[in-house]
Amino acid sequence: QASSIPADRVPDMGKRNLMNLLLLGALSLPSGIMLVPYATFFAPPGLGGGGGGTIAKDALGNDIFAAEWLEIHGPGDRTLSQGLKGDPTYLVVEKDRTLAAFGINAVCTHLGCVVPWNSAENKFICPCHGSQYNNQGRVVRGPAPLSLALAHATVEDGKVVFTPWTETDFRTGEAPWWA
Ligand code: FES
Repeated sequence: QASSIPADRVPDMGKRNLMNLLLLGALSLPSGIMLVPYATFFAPPGLGGGGGGTIAKDALGNDIFAAEWLEIHGPGDRTLSQGLKGDPTYLVVEKDRTLAAFGINAVCTHLGCVVPWNSAENKFICPCHGSQYNNQGRVVRGPAPLSLALAHATVEDGKVVFTPWTETDFRTGEAPWWA
């Protein structure tokens, strides 16, 4: 069988693609890491065009609009969105049908399972080893050692935006362990 690609070119192509991949990885990794501190430094949370925040995404990867979300999600609802660094993060609908100013990171502080919301129990209950968190993510039963992490949730241009929570944890009165 005659091939239209000369055999001696194939390794070159392969090599070039590999080089491109390596280059891409080498360039994008550090710049991705650098971008976060710069962005948060220059854009104070809650101000301006959202340079310091991450737009919350729904399960399909679409930006979450607060008004649309509140049409579908009633009082007391806790539903996962994609938050800071892609972490699964609960958006909380308050009793008065507004979005809570905080999102709850769903990653269990024990060994990292994603913790489901149990509305009947009014708690987050980890299926892996049974840790429990109250409806604001404060740990109420081990083995999890710490409460679920928080993020600020604000609305900018109609979209829900998460920014890092670096202040005191209002549930415990302690410094945030995740910051
Ligand atoms: Fe959640 Fe162990 S990972 S209890």
